[in-house]
Amino acid sequence: MPKVIIHVDGTTVEQEVKENANLVVLAATRQLPKLKYGCGMGRCTKCTCVVINGAENLASPNWKEEKMLGDKIQKGYRLTCQLTIKEDLEISQENISIQVPKKQSVIQH
Ligand code: FES
Repeated sequence: MPKVIIHVDGTTVEQEVKENANLVVLAATRQLPKLKYGCGMGRCTKCTCVVINGAENLASPNWKEEKMLGDKIQKGYRLTCQLTIKEDLEISQENISIQVPKKQSVIQH
């Protein structure tokens, strides 16, 4: 089983999870109570983390992450709710502040 290390709120949580687990689903079912999250659908950015180790084992960022995180993806930022855990992973949710992009207004002609 993959081991996940999460740095959040000044503490470190270390836990084994089932392969293909979603950490936000585990948090919502109180199996990862410290993890920060919100919508669970890639819309709020409350689950944003920085990947410290194991980024190579994750799928590439999806369109929701690209939309919400922009160029922060190059700095290792990911939306935890969009990650499927297949191998060991270490992430941090310390000192992260992401602004939700404003909706683009539609100009009609
Ligand atoms: S929980 Fe809202 S974007 Fe991940």
